[in-house]
Amino acid sequence: MKEIYLDNASTTKVDEKVLKAMLPYFSEKYGNPSSPHLKGEEARRAVEESREIIAKSISARQKEIIFTGSGTESNSFALKGLFFANYPEKSHIVTTKIEHDCILNACKWLEKQGAKVTYLDVDSEGFVNPKDVEKAITEKTFLVSVIHGNNEIGTIQDLKEIGKICRSKGVLFHTDACQSFTKTSLDVKKQNLDLVTLNAHKIHGPKGVGALYIREGIRITPLLHGGSQEFKLRSSTENVPAIVGFAKAVKISRARDSVKMQKLRDYFIKGLMEIPNIRLNGATGNKRICNNINISFRNIEGEAIGSFLSVKGVFASTGSACSSKSLEPSHVLLALGMSPLEANSSIRLSISKYTTKDEIDYALKEIKNTVERLRKISPLAS
Ligand SMILES: Cc1ncc(COP(=O)(O)O)c(C=O)c1O
Repeated sequence: MKEIYLDNASTTKVDEKVLKAMLPYFSEKYGNPSSPHLKGEEARRAVEESREIIAKSISARQKEIIFTGSGTESNSFALKGLFFANYPEKSHIVTTKIEHDCILNACKWLEKQGAKVTYLDVDSEGFVNPKDVEKAITEKTFLVSVIHGNNEIGTIQDLKEIGKICRSKGVLFHTDACQSFTKTSLDVKKQNLDLVTLNAHKIHGPKGVGALYIREGIRITPLLHGGSQEFKLRSSTENVPAIVGFAKAVKISRARDSVKMQKLRDYFIKGLMEIPNIRLNGATGNKRICNNINISFRNIEGEAIGSFLSVKGVFASTGSACSSKSLEPSHVLLALGMSPLEANSSIRLSISKYTTKDEIDYALKEIKNTVERLRKISPLAS
């Protein structure tokens, strides 16, 4: 059976070049980067070179990048670490209703510890209005956290504008850039960013490694205590092979891959739009991540479409997309103003640099057949 993988917003295939770069760090260059001997130094050099590559890619300095175990950990560290460093003088966080669950659940946990959180609305395409950010900031606010490219609908926020407001108000600005990293411009200086969450497995790197950019001089409380690795901010022996793989994935990422993906994405969307009674959720053009499509099909369940497609070897994502197996309607789609029924009739298709036009043609054919079959038997259609 053909396998057409259209769930790249969830995770991606590790690039062969990334794998090749990682392998020696399991079996030959396996030293502990904190060890004082040559074997340790070899590993330390690899970690520092990787840090430099990642820092440079977002116009940061090497010492401003902390390696973590995932995007989830980086987000949790940013939110909780800043809360502990600022509470009780400041206790207010401004975020949005369309964040990844790891931000929303960390915020809910922080509310139990005494934080106040404002969850901003978005418009029907998923954009946050920077004026709403400005209005929400109070004397007690220490942090604004807004996702860069949304993991479900691909909408890309205007970080520069929001960052400018935060700077003028003396409030820290964090973004979760796991989905947008290497796919659209990310520059901590130009976009006025104080903290940025990154991870490797969305960009053909390994799972289980992330990074947090922390602008020099920011006070943040560590969450892990131990051997004082990562500038005393994240104790734990560094995952050297994963860090090397992460940097390699960044190094080999190319703007032309994003251009290619955007063209294929728009070809895919055009084909999908031939199906009656469907709608594209999220933004269009350059304001949407180049690999993301999110579509609602009137009168059928996204879950049913996903299962039928899976049998045909086409792998898409439904529900709350990358994190959850729950049948709850997506909080992101509800925030766009969709009803629970509409939200549950959606699927996410996310391509990669490996996706071909032939694969999209095959997927289009299978999606069209599936929708036709399901609409015939749907009780909602009558
Ligand atoms: C926007 C966003 N943030 C955070 C994460 C979590 O990253 P990780 O899987 O590395 O914990 C993901 C991926 O699921 C994501 O898409």
